[in-house]
Amino acid sequence: MCGIFAYCGPKDNAGELVLSGLKKLEYRGYDSWGVACKNTDSEITIEKHVGKISGVDHLNKDLTDKPCHIAIGHSRWATHGGVTEKNAHPHSTEGNEIVIVHNGILENYEELKKELESNGHTFTSETDTEVFAHLIQENMSDGFENAFKKALKQGKGRYALLAISKDQSKILAARRGSPLIVGINEDAKEYFIASDIPAFLEHTKKVMYLDDEQMVSINDGIKFFGLNTEEEVQKRIIEIDWDIESAEKGDHPHFMIKEILEQKETLSRAINQEEDNILEAAEVIRNAYGTYIVGCGTAGKVGMVGTYLFSHIAKKHINFMFGSEFGSFLPFMKDKSLMIAISQSGETADTLEAIEEAKKKGVKIISIVNVETSTMARISDIVIPIKAGPEKAVASTKATTSQIAILTLIAYACAGKLAEGKKLLVETASQINDMLNPRYEGYIREVAEKIADIESMYIIGKDLNYPIALEAAIKLQEVSYIHAEGFAGGELKHGPIALISEGTPCIAIVAEDETKPHILSNATEVKSRGGYIIGVAPENNSVFDYWIKVPNAGMASPIVSIIPIQILAYELAILRKNNPDMPRNLAKSVTVK
Ligand code: F6R
Repeated sequence: MCGIFAYCGPKDNAGELVLSGLKKLEYRGYDSWGVACKNTDSEITIEKHVGKISGVDHLNKDLTDKPCHIAIGHSRWATHGGVTEKNAHPHSTEGNEIVIVHNGILENYEELKKELESNGHTFTSETDTEVFAHLIQENMSDGFENAFKKALKQGKGRYALLAISKDQSKILAARRGSPLIVGINEDAKEYFIASDIPAFLEHTKKVMYLDDEQMVSINDGIKFFGLNTEEEVQKRIIEIDWDIESAEKGDHPHFMIKEILEQKETLSRAINQEEDNILEAAEVIRNAYGTYIVGCGTAGKVGMVGTYLFSHIAKKHINFMFGSEFGSFLPFMKDKSLMIAISQSGETADTLEAIEEAKKKGVKIISIVNVETSTMARISDIVIPIKAGPEKAVASTKATTSQIAILTLIAYACAGKLAEGKKLLVETASQINDMLNPRYEGYIREVAEKIADIESMYIIGKDLNYPIALEAAIKLQEVSYIHAEGFAGGELKHGPIALISEGTPCIAIVAEDETKPHILSNATEVKSRGGYIIGVAPENNSVFDYWIKVPNAGMASPIVSIIPIQILAYELAILRKNNPDMPRNLAKSVTVK
């Protein structure tokens, strides 16, 4: 949610480097963008535009004509203030004295703005962000660093903030709840600051982590400080093992299809990881007085799958709650309770807040995350990395199946049957490998062509595949913009069946188990009212108008069932001329509440 990128170093084309870094972060926000260059002669030049950054080749001449060693940039996902050039970042004070970019929300901006206005400050945008620039300027007589610290102390909320000053050759950056990572090329004395690692991977794999309530000052060297202390904080340089290819599209037209197809390998990576981690998590769950899975959106639906997996495999009751709703359940949290947080990014604000509140009560946290360097991973007691590699399409696909695989393993480990769970998942991964071929994609494209013009569709599932019906709806909604809703098949007759009319598509997810007759009977109820039934099932059935075959995977049925629906959502997006990687109104990694 909002991408930040900055460069400070000997190269004199900092603006262009920032432009190229920002393009790699566009998945975090794409309604507008902007870059600020600090030229060597004490002047800052800003360029900003509404629209996507991906089609932009070069910055304006006034940013590139003069040598520039320091630049900051931002691609925006609007929160406060509409999508206009004025509201695009960077924001500045008059004469570009102080220029900033910001990801997050400054919660008390209205009262701060009023105070600043009464002190003579004039604002040019509707954003909360601009307030930070004026707050810094207000205290510049104390020095840039102190003014920056003071501004941050006055601000409430979660954010990452970068500031430059017209008269100083440095970048200041700080974080409180929103991601910000420093990339460092020691030999070349080059520094990068970004919301996410893939943005600077082509320049360096060496990173330094900025923790919450810390700031960093970068010029021809780098220094970290606590926001509330005077002392310098010592940091280690860490080498990360991501490769550039995994963060690029390669020959694929979109990240979404690349990531769907990668599930051949990502699933195996999730399964073949440290057994000790899985066994430790299982032991903690066995001893906990109440376990709560927490996640948002797709990660939330994975959490719901988890409750069914633990019930069937480990005969254990596990609770689930969305991160954004967790507050209502805090009274049940005791120091012997356990929270399992699920997240691709590890930066989702609602999930992080649930963790922070639970931690205050002494609750132990297990996190199942993709980004191992994320805030969530860093504040958890046990981290189970899903090892899916960078997921850049806004719609989560490969992270989803890997997260389900990890929960399946833990459930089997809880039942003392880890080897059995592993065997099942290894077989499933190999079946998915066979399934994901161009013919299969073509077959799903055919059904997408049949339904591409419809307005509404429904998905039904039962048991383990009920949350998958909900997840299928999310996938279809976010990239095809078709009104899609998922239901437990048995619930249709209690109301939603009124929505079915002649030709309404309904996907029925049918597992080859004791739930099969029930969900088939629900599909028949829909068909009797004119519905067009797309069966996602290991076996064909006379009720299906179109059959998408999936392997018979037992407890791994949620994994195999969601993949063809991910492909269907992708194909529908293409047919409806939507960009599946950057769906409207959305952004990857929701770092605001
Ligand atoms: C949907 C999707 C979102 C995320 C949700 C949580 O395809 O990706 O619903 O699942 O925003 O994000 P993470 O997993 O990063 O916590």
